Amino acid sequence: MCGIVGAVAQRNVLPILLDGLRRLEYRGYDSVGIAVVDAGKQISRIRSVGKIIELEKALDENPETRGITGIAHTRWATHGPPTKSNAHPHMSGPGLALVCNGIIENHEDLRLAQKTRGFKFQSDTDTEVIVNEVYQHLNNGADLLEAVQATIKVLEGAFAIGVICSDEPHRLVGARRGSPLVVGIGEGEAFLASDMSALISVTRDFYILDDGDVVDINNANICIMDSLGQIQQREIKTSKLTAESVELGEHRHFMLKEIHEQSTAIANTLEGRISGKSLLEESFGTEANRIFDATLSVQIIACGTSYHAGLVAKYWFEELGVPCQVEIASEFRSRVHAVPDKCLVVTLSQSGETIDTLSALSEAKKIGFANSLTICNAPESSLVRESDLVMMTHAGPEIGVASTKAFTTQLVALRLLAIALGRRRHLSSEHEAKLVAELRELPAKVEEAIKLEPIIKEIAEQFADKHHALFLGRGTHYPIALEGALKLKEISYIHAEAYPAGELKHGPLALIDSEMPVISVAPNDRLLDKLKANIEEVRARGGKLIVFADVETEMSDQQNLQVINVASVDSSIAPIIFTIPLQLLSYHVALIKGTDVDKPRNLAKSVTVE
Ligand code: M6R
Repeated sequence: MCGIVGAVAQRNVLPILLDGLRRLEYRGYDSVGIAVVDAGKQISRIRSVGKIIELEKALDENPETRGITGIAHTRWATHGPPTKSNAHPHMSGPGLALVCNGIIENHEDLRLAQKTRGFKFQSDTDTEVIVNEVYQHLNNGADLLEAVQATIKVLEGAFAIGVICSDEPHRLVGARRGSPLVVGIGEGEAFLASDMSALISVTRDFYILDDGDVVDINNANICIMDSLGQIQQREIKTSKLTAESVELGEHRHFMLKEIHEQSTAIANTLEGRISGKSLLEESFGTEANRIFDATLSVQIIACGTSYHAGLVAKYWFEELGVPCQVEIASEFRSRVHAVPDKCLVVTLSQSGETIDTLSALSEAKKIGFANSLTICNAPESSLVRESDLVMMTHAGPEIGVASTKAFTTQLVALRLLAIALGRRRHLSSEHEAKLVAELRELPAKVEEAIKLEPIIKEIAEQFADKHHALFLGRGTHYPIALEGALKLKEISYIHAEAYPAGELKHGPLALIDSEMPVISVAPNDRLLDKLKANIEEVRARGGKLIVFADVETEMSDQQNLQVINVASVDSSIAPIIFTIPLQLLSYHVALIKGTDVDKPRNLAKSVTVE
């Protein structure tokens, strides 16, 4: 986790660092800091607990702080609580400062060894051992680059670092292993960051560092070396991100902006993937045909919201005759597997950098899963680089910690994958034409669902004093209930659980009383009658229900039952449509609760620690 940014320029780099930090805050936001070196070799470090606004206040009190080279960090605590002393940059000696995103697994051994060499520790972090190690090499006569190269040889774990030193005021050295790091190319200046979005206001041109790379930025000259120390010429990538796409615009929160962007995001994800009445299979990559022909089953691996998308897809795949397993990545990677023959591993991830998903993919490859495909929203991410086939979701940058448009576009991509694999099983061309036509309807149907916002805003009032909520769904809508519950808990801090509606009577019914709102989605599908019976079971016990129901179900308000009509859609795309009101509900409940919607407590957008 954590976000890092660095810059070497002819001008004061402080505004560049602060802008980068603001754009990286999604990676963690419990403490923040910067260190800058000026042309006179003076280093200044300012750190604060809390979000970037706290750092800005501290900088206002120190208006003389400026520099031509600098590094900055926004933290998501792993080792040591979010205190000022644990905030980055960490320093060793009077002039060496370092920021790190990642975890150093052998930090205890290094710490012990450094203590015997006389180092005194100022923090509880695992990062401090890195800066001490670099300092030791500098003291032994190495220059900054050599010191970093020697240091990373003894580090175990995944990390991305940026290092500056007051003795070399025009130099910034970075290195990555496991955690992401990009180099921004400016005119007479150069930058470093955890991702491209951090630098979008200063450059569009980037080098994406490979695993094991070290970069030496010296007076804006950029020299990249691989893990063997060999100089490498990496390809320049031009980012398609625009500054506006990572800015709020007219919206109050990124989450709301991203909910409203879903119709466009879905249209973009479909573009170039369907033609006439059929799927364009080559949109999965040139090898897709061969790999799909050789696939007998699918193993989906993902975390959080992405995992919920996988759960929906299992129903879709199996309906078309494609056996499918879905597993949470952190569980998948840590158990023994009976590897199925010719099984395609499908990873789902917004960020493409979730360490549990990456490790699970690596484990899957090691133990003999046949091929891999990722459905991902971040081009150039580690998952994209490490998968045989790639289907990008074109949702655009998702900044709010609560995932919204990434989820619905993942569902669209999974629907396309189900068609591709279904073609090799039960799917006829007529059926494919019907599924494709339904996908084409999606953007307009999503727009309609978003129009429910005013009524959902009113319903949200009912949650102002609630501490618990229950979500119910059946079939493909059980994962949608899980997703609704996750959204509510992560941004409103209300405890929420989701159950398959048929499971209620096996225990959770005991929880029902007038204080526990029960939210259900009721598409007009073959499970509707069973769902209605479950709803009655709740009402009969004094439970208060809010039901988002397809207008054709003809459900209506009754005592303890409030029905919100959702425009009718075919059951194949209903999970995507019914997600929208649940997203809006959690957003408006969070507003009432007054939480930090885009940066809920204790969380980060991209989870790059185990
Ligand atoms: O970037 P990924 O899709 O791999 O992230 C997975 C989860 O961390 C993520 O979906 C998380 O659960 C969201 N905060 C949920 O809104």
